[in-house]
Amino acid sequence: MESQELLGALNWRYATKKFDPNRKLDLKTLNTLLEATRLSASSMGLQPYKFIHVKDVGVRESLKEHSFNQTQITDASDMIVFAALNSISDEHIEQYARTEGELRNRTEEQIERKIKSTKAYVDRMNADEQFIWNSKQAYISMGTLLSTAALLNVDACPMEGINPKEYDRILQLEALNLRSLAVVTLGFRSSEDAYSDQSKFRFPKGQIIKTI
Ligand SMILES: Cc1cc2nc3c(=O)[nH]c(=O)nc-3n(C[C@H](O)[C@H](O)[C@H](O)COP(=O)(O)O)c2cc1C
Repeated sequence: MESQELLGALNWRYATKKFDPNRKLDLKTLNTLLEATRLSASSMGLQPYKFIHVKDVGVRESLKEHSFNQTQITDASDMIVFAALNSISDEHIEQYARTEGELRNRTEEQIERKIKSTKAYVDRMNADEQFIWNSKQAYISMGTLLSTAALLNVDACPMEGINPKEYDRILQLEALNLRSLAVVTLGFRSSEDAYSDQSKFRFPKGQIIKTI
């Protein structure tokens, strides 16, 4: 891909305010977007999050009420809720290290060592710190999804304007040791979205990128 094409796609994308409710993503594109999100990087590879694809129309209506009634929640083709683990359990670390270790033909000793060092690293953080750390990893995957969507000419809106407590209740996330963080809605912009032709505002390079 040429630089110009890449930057063109990133300039084309914007936080879509009004989606065309009649246009739906095809399954292949949707699966590609979910797979790109899954392939995102995370610290130590622990993936301390879940991506919740909410398909149920009724549930989306309920969530909209707890999203400041932002219409993207119900008008977009699809919505993904990003949720982070409240804390990282020993089971999570063991499952990660065992599955990864087997895939990569590690010895039992290597796997045990990895479990021990990962637990030691995670245990340095208290529960609040673990949730913050997990959330940071989840946000990286949101970024991956947004950039991938742009490259596939899919419109998206990252959305933090939600009531996470209500989301957790409706999606029953507490039982899964998860807390919701934000949403990405996906689909196609409406021709009536006044935001689509607004100039993109970013601070100039010299202000954002520091060279030392
Ligand atoms: C974490 C995050 C949360 C956001 N929450 C909302 C939101 O709830 N509703 C909304 O319309 N836009 C939301 N935005 C969109 C931003 O306002 C938008 O990305 C920013 O103004 C830059 O504009 P652009 O993305 O269109 O280039 C959010 C963006 C991010 C990254």
